[in-house]
Amino acid sequence: MFDQSIRPRRLRTSDTLRRMVRETRVSPDSLVYPAFIAEGEHIYREIPSLPGQYHYSPDELPRLVERLCAHGVSRVMLFGLPAHKDAEGTAAWAEDGIVQQGIRRLRDLMPGLYIITDVCMCEYTSHGHCGILCGHEVDNDRTLECLARIALSHARAGADMVAPSDMMDGRVAAIRRVLDGNGFCNIPIMAYSAKFASSFYGPFRDAAGSAPAFGDRKSYQMDWHNAREAMRECALDVREGADIIMVKPALAYLDLIHEARSRFDLPLAAYSVSGEYAMIKAAAAAGLIDEHGVMCESAAAVYRAGADILITYYACELAGAIRAGEIG
Ligand code: PBG
Repeated sequence: MFDQSIRPRRLRTSDTLRRMVRETRVSPDSLVYPAFIAEGEHIYREIPSLPGQYHYSPDELPRLVERLCAHGVSRVMLFGLPAHKDAEGTAAWAEDGIVQQGIRRLRDLMPGLYIITDVCMCEYTSHGHCGILCGHEVDNDRTLECLARIALSHARAGADMVAPSDMMDGRVAAIRRVLDGNGFCNIPIMAYSAKFASSFYGPFRDAAGSAPAFGDRKSYQMDWHNAREAMRECALDVREGADIIMVKPALAYLDLIHEARSRFDLPLAAYSVSGEYAMIKAAAAAGLIDEHGVMCESAAAVYRAGADILITYYACELAGAIRAGEIG
């Protein structure tokens, strides 16, 4: 007869015990909340493609701070919606640019807030690509200068950390050099290392007005068939001086999160992107799934795969779920 002395169900008999033997532990400290700052005044507008998320103008940022404080979330990642765009994305590094204004305002409102900025050009260029164009191609090396300028202007405005999301070759080294040369050697770089040309970014592009006017991003963001190349990208960013590496999106790329965890010893972030959030919202709105349960289970999967940090539009709700013991 089969040996019945071994019974895995024994460790599942009560909530207290289940929580004792949990293998994946998560904390609100590991959550980063993405926020959209829009140039203008009196803008507090729900984003149609991301129900429950808002555009905030700088004067409306107290509402964002209220939300963060209510949930005990103290790390944000800022995205900017400028009033004007041009071919070179110059508003991205303007001293009074929208992200720069947002950083200063948030600094005043919530001194303990840890502010990470997304460094990219697609929200600022009239053509919507992530760099300077040469014909219909993004010119890698000219773009590096702009990215370094953007990162420096964010640091000067008071950002705690910069996160380049453009996928140009050599951008981590270029940003590191310029930050160090200007007295910002202690500002860490979180590199979007393995960022894929993903259809999961759709709702974000509506939210940020950053869809490319022509073509796609496949000449710089990665082909989602490739895993070894993703590890090569991570290794390059490590060599160039990244402090944190990232895999993006999250849920469809758990294998890469796991692989990056085992190969690299830097902290590893995963970005659960707009499409992941919007799918859960839409399915819940249609009465098909339990939103809270799916949110918790999806987040736990990302941590279980090996992520240390989760960037997610659900950061506030997840912080609450963690404190309530519903996850982690
Ligand atoms: C900017 C950027 C994008 C996202 C983060 N930074 C859009 C893109 O690359 O097209 C996507 C985030 C999301 O979908 O939630 N390059």
